[in-house]
Amino acid sequence: MANKRKTVYCCSECGNETPNWAGKCPACGAWNTLTEVALDPGSGRRGSGAARAAAVGKAQPLSELNTSEEIRFSTGIPEFDRVLGGGAVVGSLVLVGGAPGIGKSTLLLQMCASTGNGRRILYVTGEESQRQLKLRATRLGVDGGDIYVLAETDLDTIIAAVDELQPDIAIIDSIQTISDGDVTSAPGSITQVRECTMRIMRLSKEKRLSVFVVGHINKEGSIAGPKVLEHMVDCVLYFEGERSTSFRILRAAKNRFGSTNEIGVFEMEDHGLKCVENPSEMLLSGRPENSPGTCVACVIEGTRPILAEVQALVTPSQYNAARRSNGIDYNRAAMLLAVLDKRGGLSVGSCDSYINVIGGLSLDEPAADLATTLALASSYLDRPLGADLAAIGEVGLSGEIRSVSALNQRLSEIYRLGFKRCVIPAHVRDDIRKYDGLQLIPVKTISEAIAVVLPRER
Ligand code: TYD
Ligand code: MG
Repeated sequence: MANKRKTVYCCSECGNETPNWAGKCPACGAWNTLTEVALDPGSGRRGSGAARAAAVGKAQPLSELNTSEEIRFSTGIPEFDRVLGGGAVVGSLVLVGGAPGIGKSTLLLQMCASTGNGRRILYVTGEESQRQLKLRATRLGVDGGDIYVLAETDLDTIIAAVDELQPDIAIIDSIQTISDGDVTSAPGSITQVRECTMRIMRLSKEKRLSVFVVGHINKEGSIAGPKVLEHMVDCVLYFEGERSTSFRILRAAKNRFGSTNEIGVFEMEDHGLKCVENPSEMLLSGRPENSPGTCVACVIEGTRPILAEVQALVTPSQYNAARRSNGIDYNRAAMLLAVLDKRGGLSVGSCDSYINVIGGLSLDEPAADLATTLALASSYLDRPLGADLAAIGEVGLSGEIRSVSALNQRLSEIYRLGFKRCVIPAHVRDDIRKYDGLQLIPVKTISEAIAVVLPRER
């Protein structure tokens, strides 16, 4: 070796650097995640990428800064715009993460066609050949326009192409395949991914180039070096869904230019992704008519009420009682089972219980508690609730049904979808709007709810 290279140990989970190796990362506590990385002489330019990139020139008074800077453009895909907070911001870097095969490339390729307005787009693919991309584009009906394709993995070549083409939008598919020749580690490693993202971020700020970067999610459910990337980029979107179903949800985990509670709903079809404007209808389609163990809940995702079916199966346990929940937080499900056992008078504690939310949606709002609990009770008692019933309410530890926010908004969606009965909390904060043909069933406790909607004689 010519000169002694300096190395540090970098955690692949949180990106923390330490001078010495350890079995456990001192920052995040993960085991066996530290790997030795070389700190090359050029690393002086490393630093907080976003901050460096944004800080071009001298400090200026806040009041004198030009506010017309934040210009948005539409991606031409309404659900995508919604998640971005009303369109993409010019000069921002958006990370689109998701499991392989979920539809990230499809979404971005469709955007190339739909964003229109004469914008020049550079699509860099490190995964497919130009021919493969062309075939896919033809299948999606994407052609013409000012779209350029570059099959390349070397970052310097990509930056040179940007210099030459001067595009308005660049798509990097995917960050794990791109490498910077100055960095010795392999493509996809934490150091490469971080260094490349940092340089792309700088490029985006300097040229006011809007960049969409694809990031695959690894087994643990995080983009390689998740925290490292999340703090650098402007916006992090996750594309979720089960590969077995055609339903896809785009969710914002971070957004410097908008809220993070909006979701975008898509359906994967033969000719690409289609926006789903009324997710409730789709989530409820194919619902069993009169079977026990299912109830409809209403949650608010961003500004939109969405109805979803919660299914439960409670069976006598042979050994130790097992619990599985899909789409509802495990601890929340365990709490609801305990309340049902102690306050609802149903001995579900000694049973195997399974909960599933249809369509891969996750219900993290307490407003879905009552529907979940009623689905469990219905399965335990083996009596159907009826397909015309929905339930809204939070379940408290003493079995009381508590009021939830935006009740009127939820009720209007329930009414719109043709439900006839809805269980609601007896004590509500605001005036409830009445709908013809929608019977409201106010309840105070979980045992009262069970007695009313799951009576013995049914
Ligand atoms: P893709 O966008 O390649 O996923 P990612 O970039 O996230 O890895 O999507 C691949 C999947 O989508 C593949 O399993 C097939 C399916 N698909 C369709 O169902 N219809 C289509 O029109 C396209 C292009 C893909
Ligand atoms: Mg892809």
